[in-house]
Amino acid sequence: MASTVTVFSASLLVLFFLRSVDAAEVGSNVFSVQSYGALGDGRHDDSKALGDAWSAACSSEKPAVVLIPKGKKYLTKHITLAGPCKSSILVMVKGSLLATPERSDWSKETIRHWILFSGVHDLTVNGGGSIDGNGNVWWENSCKTNSELPCTEAPTALTFHSCTNLKVESLKVVNSQQIQISVEDSTGVRMSRLSISAPEASPNTDGIHITRSRDVQVTDCTIKTGDDCMSIEDGTENLLVKNMVCGPGHGISIGSLGDHNSEAHVSNVTVDNVRLYGTTNGARIKTWQGGKGYAKNIVFQNMIMDNVWNPIIIDQNYCDSSTPCKQQKSAVEVSDVLFKNIRGTSASEEAIMLHCSSNVPCHGITLENVKITVKGGSADAKSTCQNAEWKKSGPVSPQPCSLTN
Ligand SMILES: *[C@@H]1O[C@H](CO)[C@@H](O)[C@H](O)[C@H]1NC(C)=O
Repeated sequence: MASTVTVFSASLLVLFFLRSVDAAEVGSNVFSVQSYGALGDGRHDDSKALGDAWSAACSSEKPAVVLIPKGKKYLTKHITLAGPCKSSILVMVKGSLLATPERSDWSKETIRHWILFSGVHDLTVNGGGSIDGNGNVWWENSCKTNSELPCTEAPTALTFHSCTNLKVESLKVVNSQQIQISVEDSTGVRMSRLSISAPEASPNTDGIHITRSRDVQVTDCTIKTGDDCMSIEDGTENLLVKNMVCGPGHGISIGSLGDHNSEAHVSNVTVDNVRLYGTTNGARIKTWQGGKGYAKNIVFQNMIMDNVWNPIIIDQNYCDSSTPCKQQKSAVEVSDVLFKNIRGTSASEEAIMLHCSSNVPCHGITLENVKITVKGGSADAKSTCQNAEWKKSGPVSPQPCSLTN
């Protein structure tokens, strides 16, 4: 009897403990930025408090939580949160991290990053709060907004560099200075339930940028932005992008690859169950002339497009330059690409463009169950192709040009 009572009261104690803290914090050390002197008034610089909370958490022997409390705005400058850490780390963003609006707070060395996580193993960032890049001042001073201004670099809001076993979940990322989230040189990445937004006119605010990373999954995200919703760059291998909503923005892009005669490798990318609204592109692969390497084993499937300017596009003559790009012999080879179950409307008449290189033609392109019409039905949707070897499976409308033309 006595032992039953003991067990019973012990369970009560455990229950009480579970109720009094977040489940995720059980058994962890919690390092709140408030305990390290942060004010959270949105004006005072809380960078040092965040850095100190991180350092304490990172040197903890037990799994640690860095807490950004709810209901407050913590203003920070450029900050590097570096590993390796002694144990796993959870950064729980319940309130908001707000970037300083002073451009002079960045130096030449730090200008590419606002919050940079570097070399961390077993890192989770979540909490439902927001990461606010306060980007207005950067957009106003961009040469893409005002061509009289010199082109300068601007920070990426959230960068994960050399991280392994990374989870980024349930966050709002808003108004980034430039790229919103960048994943670089990382392995084993899960990103989900992210709500990412910046105005349609904000320059270069790519939603999620992935490079030199493998085994990455991006699921259940909503992205509204001024540039690519996702840019999938050189060195991406084994990527799944699933259940996404994109627009406004420039769509889901692989590339641009092979700029400045560089070598690029992208393989095994699946983009599945994506809706795009009013984007400039839908499913896109873009490469510069003169590059080397490949983009292969790529699937774009189950996509619904509404009023998308270029719904399906492979462009091997990509040229985002103020001067025309010259003809070059080499190119990043594009092969084994499946566009399957894609339907919706195109804002332009060009619904499908397979524009491949004459020296390195695209091959293994399959179109399966594709139906795209021009928005409003004012004209028939068209397609154009050059140097593309493709086949179809099931109905495809509009059908690309035949191999011979
Ligand atoms: C391709 O990538 C997926 C993740 O999207 C992975 O599960 C699968 O094993 C990869 N396939 C190969 C052949 O590596």
